[in-house]
Amino acid sequence: MTALAPHSLDYRQQAPEVAARFERIKQRPVILSVKDLKKTFGQNGSTRTVFDGVSLDIHRREFITVIGPSGCGKSTFIRIIAGLDECNGGVALLDGKNIGEPGPDRGMVFQGYTLFPWLTVKRNVMFGIEMRGKGKFVAEAEARQWLEMVGLSKFEDAYPHELSGGMKQRVAIARALANEPRILIMDEPFGALDAQTRAQMQSYLLQIWRKVDITILFITHDLEEAAYVSDRILVMGTNPGRVVEFIENPIPRPRSPAQFVSPEYLALKMRLEELIHPPVEVEEDKLPVVKMTSAGDDVE
Ligand SMILES: Nc1ncnc2c1ncn2[C@@H]1O[C@H](COP(=O)(O)OP(=O)(O)O)[C@@H](O)[C@H]1O
Ligand SMILES: [Mg+2]
Repeated sequence: MTALAPHSLDYRQQAPEVAARFERIKQRPVILSVKDLKKTFGQNGSTRTVFDGVSLDIHRREFITVIGPSGCGKSTFIRIIAGLDECNGGVALLDGKNIGEPGPDRGMVFQGYTLFPWLTVKRNVMFGIEMRGKGKFVAEAEARQWLEMVGLSKFEDAYPHELSGGMKQRVAIARALANEPRILIMDEPFGALDAQTRAQMQSYLLQIWRKVDITILFITHDLEEAAYVSDRILVMGTNPGRVVEFIENPIPRPRSPAQFVSPEYLALKMRLEELIHPPVEVEEDKLPVVKMTSAGDDVE
């Protein structure tokens, strides 16, 4: 572990209200429990371990972000939680029950837009509700409520191609939540959006999360995003994938962009940078000494 620079605030240092908040979170029931999860892929007769020994407990209504270098197994990990892939060892329990096939207890939002292009916004949200056996009128009323929650009531009759990227992802969130899942699993959901829309979506998601009884497992490669939205940050390492650290986010809630310059935020970000991009000695690239100027002054 790299030593902290003497001038920096310890990223583990929490204000009393933050520490009290984590005490309250720990009193809540565990929704997702993962023990010693292992995943391997077979390759030409040999096996490659993607990750091994991944363990964590997530409490009800926690907001967990997962970060780690590309290829460390973040997407594979949540595909297993979603029931889209199988593990090769360990256990994953949702509400104490072994995770199996994909089910309505797990909502998914991916980076790519996954709405049905031939259905209106409202019909996209109604789809899962009707699939769960509710009648058309109930499904329509519930879909309208979810669209109001994500601020898209005016667009209920629009088709996905008429919406911006951020709006499509808000519909995707409404559609996932309309199934009343226990956990919302998000794999780089804002990765394709421009910086400004992305910041707006982070703020929307926090507002929605405050109003709904939902636990969130959110993958991102953006350290600032991880720090801004999460309660705890699971940092994964690579070769093989593993949990490097599970950090309690010291930034008080409610969050606002003004906190981006707070000492807690900077200390946390520095720690995340250290874990994800460890300093490497790089020799300075030098070109041969050839000079082609007759001007008297030098450029620096
Ligand atoms: N279906 C598959 N078959 C073989 N290898 C795979 C498969 N899916 C993922 N992998 C490998 O598993 C590793 C982790 O991938 P992934 O979970 O997508 O990482 P991340 O999301 O952290 O970037 C990568 O090396 C990838 O090549
Ligand atoms: Mg991925």
